[in-house]
Amino acid sequence: MKLFLDTAELDEITQGVGWGVVDGVTTNPTLIAKAGHDHETQVKKICGLLGNVSAEVVSEKKDDILVEGRRIASWHKNVIVKVPLTPDGLAAGKVLAGEGTRVNVTLCFSVNQALLAAAIGAFIISPFVGRVDDINEDGMQIVRDIVSAYRQQNITTKVLAASLRGPLHVTEAALAGADIATMPFGVLQAMFKHPLTDAGLKRFKEDYLKSQEPKPAHGAEPAATR
Ligand code: E4P
Repeated sequence: MKLFLDTAELDEITQGVGWGVVDGVTTNPTLIAKAGHDHETQVKKICGLLGNVSAEVVSEKKDDILVEGRRIASWHKNVIVKVPLTPDGLAAGKVLAGEGTRVNVTLCFSVNQALLAAAIGAFIISPFVGRVDDINEDGMQIVRDIVSAYRQQNITTKVLAASLRGPLHVTEAALAGADIATMPFGVLQAMFKHPLTDAGLKRFKEDYLKSQEPKPAHGAEPAATR
């Protein structure tokens, strides 16, 4: 499973890329607004750091989505155009996919919606886990079901587990068979954490330092007997 960052913050992306563990980035209008720069500038900067950068349209009608999607796709070869799971979003997504643009269909909450995205040749389907958990339903079960349906139908659209809220979601997404998990930077940081790693590191350091302490020369009398 590939690990993507769900952020538009350049310092977070730079760190994740520096660790060698991040393969892509998902943005949305909320994340771009939080980063505080205009959409095009920010997406181009992110594309300069790594491939697989999802950038979302805000238009609602097919023709408008097409114009906006083509404009976003022209920004950089690393861009994946994100369209909403609506009839207009999918109609425009189909044209974009036919033109060779990689399309990420977002705001997916059911297997049927995922089947519709596959039908237009989407590169990625993004089921939202956390937003379903937020309404007291099991968001990860939708990921499991989409993966299962896609496997049974030999569908190659990649399943991207989105709206992840914590490290356990990442583990569950991997066990569900998701192709990609996108996560906030804090969740990526949390993936590194284990108290036994910290304790082990501390002990190795202490033992190493002890081994470097000077030892009495072989055969020398202990100082106390002199
Ligand atoms: C990513 O593609 C989605 O836009 C994002 O994961 C949504 O996350 P949220 O539900 O935490 O806003």
